[in-house]
Amino acid sequence: MNKREFLKNAATLSTITLLPSGAMAFSKSKKKRLRTAHIGVGNMGGEDLKAISSHAAVDVVALCDVDSDLLAKAKALHPDAKTYTDYRVMLKEMKKKIDAVVVSTPDHTHAPASMMAMEMDKPVYCQKPLTHHVTEARAMKKLAKEKNLVTQMGIQVHSFYDYKLATLMIQSGIIGKVHTVRAWSPKNWGYDGPLPEGQDPVPANLDWNLWLGTSSERPYKKGVYHPGNWRKLVDYGCGTLGDMGVHIFDTPYNALELDVPRTITTNCRKPNGFGYPEQNMVTYEFPGTKYTADTLKWVWYDGEGADKQREDLMLPGGEKLHDQGAMFIGKKGRLYLPHFQMLPKVIVDGEYQEIDVEKFNLGEPVRDYESEGKKHYHQFVDACLGTAETSAPFSYASRLTETILLGVIAGRFPNKTLHWDAKSARFAEEEANQFLDSPYREF
Ligand SMILES: NC(=O)c1ccc[n+]([C@@H]2O[C@H](COP(=O)([O-])OP(=O)(O)OC[C@H]3O[C@@H](n4cnc5c(N)ncnc54)[C@H](O)[C@@H]3O)[C@@H](O)[C@H]2O)c1
Repeated sequence: MNKREFLKNAATLSTITLLPSGAMAFSKSKKKRLRTAHIGVGNMGGEDLKAISSHAAVDVVALCDVDSDLLAKAKALHPDAKTYTDYRVMLKEMKKKIDAVVVSTPDHTHAPASMMAMEMDKPVYCQKPLTHHVTEARAMKKLAKEKNLVTQMGIQVHSFYDYKLATLMIQSGIIGKVHTVRAWSPKNWGYDGPLPEGQDPVPANLDWNLWLGTSSERPYKKGVYHPGNWRKLVDYGCGTLGDMGVHIFDTPYNALELDVPRTITTNCRKPNGFGYPEQNMVTYEFPGTKYTADTLKWVWYDGEGADKQREDLMLPGGEKLHDQGAMFIGKKGRLYLPHFQMLPKVIVDGEYQEIDVEKFNLGEPVRDYESEGKKHYHQFVDACLGTAETSAPFSYASRLTETILLGVIAGRFPNKTLHWDAKSARFAEEEANQFLDSPYREF
């Protein structure tokens, strides 16, 4: 089944009449409270639920999870909410009682669930990366725009003090035009091992068919997919680049006002069709912007031993580089942004520079993750209520996600440079185009 058919079925299932402009209609209605439905409430979904429901104007009315144990935990915190295992049933039954939807499932379910919610004119907060495929990212952006919906991608650090400060510092020209960004994470969301053999009984608390959703059928194996480990696998997640890269790349992307890249080269092992490589180096080349040199090179390193020994990564006094972070290298100096909750630092001629951060009018740095973390979510709620705007709407998130996914695809062609044409949304290398999309299974 293709995406068009999926959505047609979804709309039939919902038997709704689509409004021409959902979010606008919603925000103009000057509602005072927001009724939310949550798809995926374990791990990050639990955090999302906590943060969204901490807004005084939110009523959690529906919870959905394919794992009944995780669903029961969320229900214990929100006893009045109705519970579901199938988001299609939830959206159909609750369509008139839901004002906004939060999607916190594994990556391969982001687009199917979000698209169905948006088709029903619901504002959506969707976890990162926005989608599993490039075509889905473009479709999400298009639909959100057509329906004028409030949207936000779950990159909560986007709203954190240090990232906002780094963005303002770079845009102020403090390190001159930027020609290179290096970013690194030692995390390993890859798997170099073989395809697991055999199958295990599906636990009674898990609906495996619904977990697979639109992806192909396959036997269940304990500990391989659910929970969390799906990140390592090409059919469900996006590896370390899709996991951490979205956060760490967000500030360069935002600050330098980058669009999608022209070329992408991934250095890694040969693809095995199942797991992502455990170590990657991805090099992107972007067209220049007003904050960059004529072109911008962005290099990502992940996995154990991610390359941190380069001269342009050396810190003053031989200080050790933080585990994860980014270094912006400009014509006048470098800006070092550890990930996360640490102040960005400017380095000129091998020395840290004193920076008067007050001139950026951001107030005092916030070091409390709890309160800082809520900002991004509350911004979404306020935007739905018509009193704010989101800072990572799908119009932005889809381009950032597309960029990340192009690097993921390049990992299928190790050491080969792929050329991307953003206008036609095609690679010059025809063999790579098959990975821009994947068919949806009927489930
Ligand atoms: N923004 C962040 O800092 C951050 C941190 C961690 C994870 N994430 C993102 O959050 C998402 C979830 O990651 P996770 O670590 O929580 O994964 P997880 O596997 O631990 O949890 C996923 C949850 O979704 C449920 N689920 C799976 N398929 C479902 C479906 N079809 N319908 C309803 N529920 C379904 C699972 O049962 C589970 O409760 C991912 O997209 C991930 O990238 C973001």
